[in-house]
Amino acid sequence: MTAHDPTPETWRAVDRYFADTLVGPDPDLEAAVEAQRAAGMPDIEVAPVNGKLLHLLARMSGARRVLEIGTLGGYSTIWLARAVPEDGRVVTIEAEPDNAAVARASIDRAGVGGRVDIRIGRGEHVLPTLAGEEPFDLVFIDADKESNALYLDWAARLGRVGTVVVVDNVGRGGAVADAGTTSSQVIGTRKGLALLGEDPRFEATALQTLDAKGWDGVAIALVVRPGEA
Ligand code: DHB
Ligand code: MG
Repeated sequence: MTAHDPTPETWRAVDRYFADTLVGPDPDLEAAVEAQRAAGMPDIEVAPVNGKLLHLLARMSGARRVLEIGTLGGYSTIWLARAVPEDGRVVTIEAEPDNAAVARASIDRAGVGGRVDIRIGRGEHVLPTLAGEEPFDLVFIDADKESNALYLDWAARLGRVGTVVVVDNVGRGGAVADAGTTSSQVIGTRKGLALLGEDPRFEATALQTLDAKGWDGVAIALVVRPGEA
């Protein structure tokens, strides 16, 4: 029935084909990845097809205000900033000041610097300072996995009914299905998913992904009841 078994060679070829066909070359994004690598940051930015998914979700939802938790080198930030209108905003939280400086330069080089506000600090400290601002229309969670449940709680508080929430890395090479895991990252990922399944403020699903970053997954949620700010 299938032309190929899903080996790493075949699924990588499919991802390359999708990326070549639907995303294409992008000098500003490639420069952002290069700067990130040159600065010694890990190669853990989202895959091109995933960056474009974020971009399209932001446009599909008409997002004007986007919150990103975990800037790293600014790769996904650029995808998101391109999706909001000129007078829109991406607030992105980065714990490492050195990462934030590299991201700032890449975001500015990409021509979207006027729409991006980098807040330096750990999510748990920065998120409470955002309460009282206009609600965010889309929240992308891609930072320390141990804090995913905390970040989801803040996403509901800082969002509104209709806010789209995306969580990166929910597959973790299959480790997420291991209830007995001792990995703090996987435990944190599972706590976040449990919250999405149980918390009445959210309706959510998750999809496995096989892309340039390997076997992982993305959770997509909708805020369906107001959170307390
Ligand atoms: C890790 C974090 C990420 O956000 C990611 O996309 C891949 C890996 C990590 O911490 O290992
Ligand atoms: Mg990630």
